[in-house]
Amino acid sequence: MMCAGIHAQSLQSPDGKFEMNFQLKQGVPYYSLKYKGAVVVEDSKLGLRLFKDVSVPFAAEIARPGNGENDLNSGFTKADEKRDAKNETWQPVLGEKKNYINHYNELAVTLHQASTDRNIIVKFRLFNDGLGFRYEFPQQKNLNYFVIREEDSEIDFPADMKAWWIVADYDSQEYQPQTTKISEIPGRWDLAFDKHSSQTLIKNAVQSPLLLKKEGKEPLYINVAEAAVLNYPASHLEVDAQNFRFKTHLTPDKQGAKGYIQTSSVSPWRTIIVSPKAEEVLDSKMLFNLNEPTKYTDTSYIHPTKYMGVWWEMIIGKSKWAYSTANNVHIGETDFTKLTPNGNHAANNTKVKEYIDFAAENGFDGLLVEGWNIGWEDWIGHHKEFVFDFITPYPDFDIKMLNEYAHSKGIKLIMHHETSASATNYERWADEAFQLMNKYGYDAVKTGYVGDMIPRGEHHYSQWSINHYYRIAEKANKYKIMVNSHESVRPGGESRTYPNWVSAEAARGTEHEVFKGNNPDHQTILPFTRWIGGSMDYTPGIFQTKMDYYFPGDKRFVQTTLAKQLALYVVMYMPLQMAADLPENYRKHMDAFQFIKDVAADWDDTKILSAEPGDYIITARKAKGTENWFVGGITDENKRDYTVDFSFLDKGKKYEAIIYEDGKDADYISNPQSYHIYHKTVTSKSRISFKMARSGGFAISIKPKN
Ligand code: NOJ
Ligand code: CA
Repeated sequence: MMCAGIHAQSLQSPDGKFEMNFQLKQGVPYYSLKYKGAVVVEDSKLGLRLFKDVSVPFAAEIARPGNGENDLNSGFTKADEKRDAKNETWQPVLGEKKNYINHYNELAVTLHQASTDRNIIVKFRLFNDGLGFRYEFPQQKNLNYFVIREEDSEIDFPADMKAWWIVADYDSQEYQPQTTKISEIPGRWDLAFDKHSSQTLIKNAVQSPLLLKKEGKEPLYINVAEAAVLNYPASHLEVDAQNFRFKTHLTPDKQGAKGYIQTSSVSPWRTIIVSPKAEEVLDSKMLFNLNEPTKYTDTSYIHPTKYMGVWWEMIIGKSKWAYSTANNVHIGETDFTKLTPNGNHAANNTKVKEYIDFAAENGFDGLLVEGWNIGWEDWIGHHKEFVFDFITPYPDFDIKMLNEYAHSKGIKLIMHHETSASATNYERWADEAFQLMNKYGYDAVKTGYVGDMIPRGEHHYSQWSINHYYRIAEKANKYKIMVNSHESVRPGGESRTYPNWVSAEAARGTEHEVFKGNNPDHQTILPFTRWIGGSMDYTPGIFQTKMDYYFPGDKRFVQTTLAKQLALYVVMYMPLQMAADLPENYRKHMDAFQFIKDVAADWDDTKILSAEPGDYIITARKAKGTENWFVGGITDENKRDYTVDFSFLDKGKKYEAIIYEDGKDADYISNPQSYHIYHKTVTSKSRISFKMARSGGFAISIKPKN
């Protein structure tokens, strides 16, 4: 009777609004979640399936279908129950606010599986903004090493909801977000992706963070994600569209294994953020709170960075990363000085100096230079392992001279390590590469993983690759280097533990505007999804949005107004913040460029003034260590009016505001560069109305008056 009975435990959030219930039904673990008495998540199953015997050759084991004998999903009795609570305030090294509040009640249930004599723990943390749970695997006689076949954590919703999602893929997140009902996901799925250089799609599954909305009079916004994904594969969400149910689907390795575990260890946290207000979802710090405090002893080298780049001109096809006309080069053998220059290599001494001059004149901290090192001639699409050495500059890039020149003007060059997804090669060279950076005074690196992963057969989000990204982050810390990774796994709040991994791309950034395009609602969705676990290197600031300016007849264009590009610097949290356009384009609009020069990249406070996913976001932020505020507002493909209420300002104080808004005739297609700038004195009682153009926006910088 004991094993077959129902043992229910309940847990309340600190504010009492959430209730989580855990129970065993016939030995199978289930949890459910209520918000203000209403069911948000129905009884949902927990558990993992394992390979049976990890001591036999793996090929034989993997071929054998799972027979359940070794799984950790049934036959449990409750062995113990522990409760805990925390209410702490901590300071992120770089962040959206000075203080992050970590306030939760915790329930840890120890489950005993009599047939195998093993214990696991399911740990729940209930915050005022939702639920996190994970599995813990204590070291014990019968549980030392195991290999995961699949994690089957379910989230079962009671009704259909609106969903903002991208297709699941083991290798890319650079997809256009889709907006459908949960029930419509399978019908849309086949139309929801374009072709990527490395791509392993999972039919009818979606990626996390996933955003859902229960529509109606009492709306609820729900974000489903994961946190602290360490030594474990990243997960996707399989969709049961009839039952509105999602289930984890881990990224496998080449053998089909989904995590090699040695106890004691823990799984990542599965997270469900819930709020009646969209603004509160954007404000949630749950994923960061579920990560461990950093063990780094020195974080003083980690700083907000505003940078420009020898970059956009290559992305749009105006110049090249490669130096020569060759198409087959051997690192360490080919003499690059003997090759025929292609005449269009961007990272050359003259051009880099021009960029340094412009960045220095305008108060930037850094300049990214891509294509500085040998190997770009055949870097892509050949599954080549030894693509780059990360230490040898092209003949026309004088690394010593350019760094000295940059430093003399207060600029640091930002290193670029495109690995071509040859992670094995990068690990071989990383020490020397970071030593070279130390020698010349670089303190930040942009890494990249374009193409299929090497070790061959690994995926961008499998356990090995994730361990690789963290090995690189830890090594970079040893050399006091900040990391900005592209094509890596998306973050789940891990910057709390690894604060030098300051940013990542891991989503569809600005570059896609000139590939297959980003829809005008793209930037109103990303902060609700990709950004929930950490900052993104979105690379905004494109003033020359139409490509026919460079190439007559070229139809490509960045689908926003210029004013919206400014607003992105506030709406999108980016401690590593790029002004991505070419100096020549900024020179034509120095009045608007002033906003990018002024805007901060690190914050003491953030207030989401108003937001609706897919429609608009209006954000106000207070710059770190100052009384200056910045406000940004963006809209989707619809024109929209919004009135900013300045009651977030200190009472009784006067401020000088500079307002950047869409011109009366602005439109992202017909007239993107129409904008209007004016000055105004504001107080906490002020209100200013804006008319945002289609895919337009506004930006405001606010300074106290003396
Ligand atoms: C893709 C990255 O997203 C982009 O920023 C970079 O310039 C290219 N790879 C080359 O590394
Ligand atoms: Ca990319």
